[in-house]
Amino acid sequence: MGEKPSIIRRFSDSPIDLNDKTIMITGGTGSFGKAFLDFVISNYTPKRTIIFSRDEFKQHEVAMKYPKAEYPALRFFIGDVRNADRLEMAMRGVDYVVHAAAMKQVAAAEYNPFECIHTNVIGAENVIRAAMRTGVKKVIALSTDKAANPVNLYGASKLASDKIFISGNYLSGSGGTRFSIVRYGNVVGSRGSVVEVFKRLIEEGAESLPITDDRMTRFWISLTQAVHFVTSCFEMMAGGEVFVPKIPSMSVVDLTEAMAPGMPTHLIGIRPGEKLHETMIPVDDCRTTAELSDRYIIESMLDLSIPTVAERFGDSVQGVADNFAYTSDQNDERLGVEVLRKLLVEGNMLPANVTAP
Ligand SMILES: NC(=O)c1ccc[n+]([C@@H]2O[C@H](COP(=O)([O-])OP(=O)(O)OC[C@H]3O[C@@H](n4cnc5c(N)ncnc54)[C@H](OP(=O)(O)O)[C@@H]3O)[C@@H](O)[C@H]2O)c1
Repeated sequence: MGEKPSIIRRFSDSPIDLNDKTIMITGGTGSFGKAFLDFVISNYTPKRTIIFSRDEFKQHEVAMKYPKAEYPALRFFIGDVRNADRLEMAMRGVDYVVHAAAMKQVAAAEYNPFECIHTNVIGAENVIRAAMRTGVKKVIALSTDKAANPVNLYGASKLASDKIFISGNYLSGSGGTRFSIVRYGNVVGSRGSVVEVFKRLIEEGAESLPITDDRMTRFWISLTQAVHFVTSCFEMMAGGEVFVPKIPSMSVVDLTEAMAPGMPTHLIGIRPGEKLHETMIPVDDCRTTAELSDRYIIESMLDLSIPTVAERFGDSVQGVADNFAYTSDQNDERLGVEVLRKLLVEGNMLPANVTAP
């Protein structure tokens, strides 16, 4: 396999030490949760790792992969983030929480708005209250590009969640639980992602691939990168930051060429709630955005009595330009067709009926 291009970063050079710590993952049976669990179990010896989610079958599937005899420190909690008491019970003695549980399908949120608000907003409030009451040290909540200038309820609910997590630092006071956000875009190959959809269509023998708009661009992040990024943010966080990884972009037209060379495409029009380009940092946030070599950090405008990013990281921090926005179309780091194909091969995402070059 060829060497990875340099713009595909590794983020885990200085991850937090999770040995002998107790970690809880809300939504621990989802795509991120399972990858995070695997990373934690493979790289550390935690005191306990707790999976918190609703569906017993998904928990059973995870439990099958990690037999109790070999993984005695792994615990499963059936619970709903809408239930504050249950969260509090699960969080006793926990040091670090990753909050990944969410309703995340744009259309489902539009048609079931009360459900979306209950899980994504009230659930976030419950996580904050339970973490403060039980003395959790640090919480990272996962956010999405859709929370930046939201145009749909899913994005708006995640923005509300981001805001209440950040003010959680204010409520918990100095020395209390620290809350930060990690924001990234669609995870390559995750359920319902464009790569997964194209892969399925090509394998089913499609003669043309549907494209919503041929100008469309997206960021590119893998699940492994997302997990590494979160663990590095646990180490860096002081509370109140929105961490955004520097990741490359691709055009969806280039992606079709990488996945099925020469295959025609047809336009189907942009879907409700969908954006042409992803925004991770809107221009209105540029005044509070700091740049490091591998990430951006949006600082809180609340008075949290927390040292600023510049105070903590000194010379490695730069400000960004007055009109800066971090969007998938304006991103300097772009993946071309060849690199995309290489990454698809490495991630085992090339359709089975397409021959690797
Ligand atoms: N995937 C992406 O492309 C992407 C991109 C950017 C941000 N994110 C964010 O990353 C996080 C994780 O995403 P994912 O892709 O891992 O999602 P996922 O695969 O859909 O998993 C969601 C997890 O949350 C649990 N869950 C859902 N509702 C719950 C509730 N009310 N109480 C407790 N647990 C609940 C689910 O298990 P049960 O159904 O059994 O409860 C499952 O374990 C989300 O916050 C999402 O907004 C994802």
